[in-house]
Amino acid sequence: MAIMRLGRVQIRVPNWEKSIEYYKNVVGLIETYRDENHVYLKAWDEHDHHSVILEKADAAGLNHLAFKCEKAEDLDMYEQKLIEYGVAVERIPAGYRIAEGEAVRFRVPTGQFVELYHEIEVVGNGLPLVNPDPWPDGLVGIAAPRLDHLLIAGDDVEGTTQLFMDVFGFHMSENVVLPDGKYLATWLFTTNTPHDLAVIKGPDEKLHHIAFFIDDWNELRKAADILARNDVMIDAGPTRHGITRGTTIYSFDPSGNRTEFFCGGYITYPDFPTITWNTDRLARGIYYFEGEINDRFTTVFS
Ligand SMILES: [Fe+2]
Repeated sequence: MAIMRLGRVQIRVPNWEKSIEYYKNVVGLIETYRDENHVYLKAWDEHDHHSVILEKADAAGLNHLAFKCEKAEDLDMYEQKLIEYGVAVERIPAGYRIAEGEAVRFRVPTGQFVELYHEIEVVGNGLPLVNPDPWPDGLVGIAAPRLDHLLIAGDDVEGTTQLFMDVFGFHMSENVVLPDGKYLATWLFTTNTPHDLAVIKGPDEKLHHIAFFIDDWNELRKAADILARNDVMIDAGPTRHGITRGTTIYSFDPSGNRTEFFCGGYITYPDFPTITWNTDRLARGIYYFEGEINDRFTTVFS
């Protein structure tokens, strides 16, 4: 396995100060660096220097998502595979971002920019590697332990899905098929979670949500409490997804990017059989308890 995991997202936050406060004090991410236009953050149980970069911008949205590769030479290998696949690639030099080495940058058919990288400074998770306690002191807010997955939107769901499967060896855990046989959405994995990336029909280049992992249902209920006491706009939940079987709550950051706190779901393997949902059961697939989808879920992207 050359791609190890979703390593980072860079999101645009026009509501600068309030968004920094949201990600630090409500989500509970830890600031590791800032310059005039960026704040670098990590979730507490991640070891790398950052996994979320906030970017000062005029409009909300996704600058890029990035996957961490196991070895430095994986970048050359994937660069070659992408070129052979007909995808234009660009090299981002080491030091372009703080604490990072080189990256390979390209665009997927749904319009988002994706990067592959290997080198990043390791800062640890605040716990010793010998005889650690289960969590460190000083956690704040929801204290999500790690970044989990992304849902991106675009017209060519097939194209982006196929690229991740053909070039990077991702597998498909679930899909929603439209009556014409095309995909409305796909859920893709390369680790052993139900999804590292999902793709849904919608406006090109857009982000539907970034998701942080939550340990269990009780922590999810506590996350709902923390969102409510901070007057954060909750989009939906707490509830369960039929798709992935995960439990979830969605909220919006003060800039309008949707964030999810996601818990559970099944374990996947390369031979995991793909599950298909028909559009007449889609509402149960998205919100299993409610059986209906609010308009925001299908119309609001950033
Ligand atoms: Fe999600």
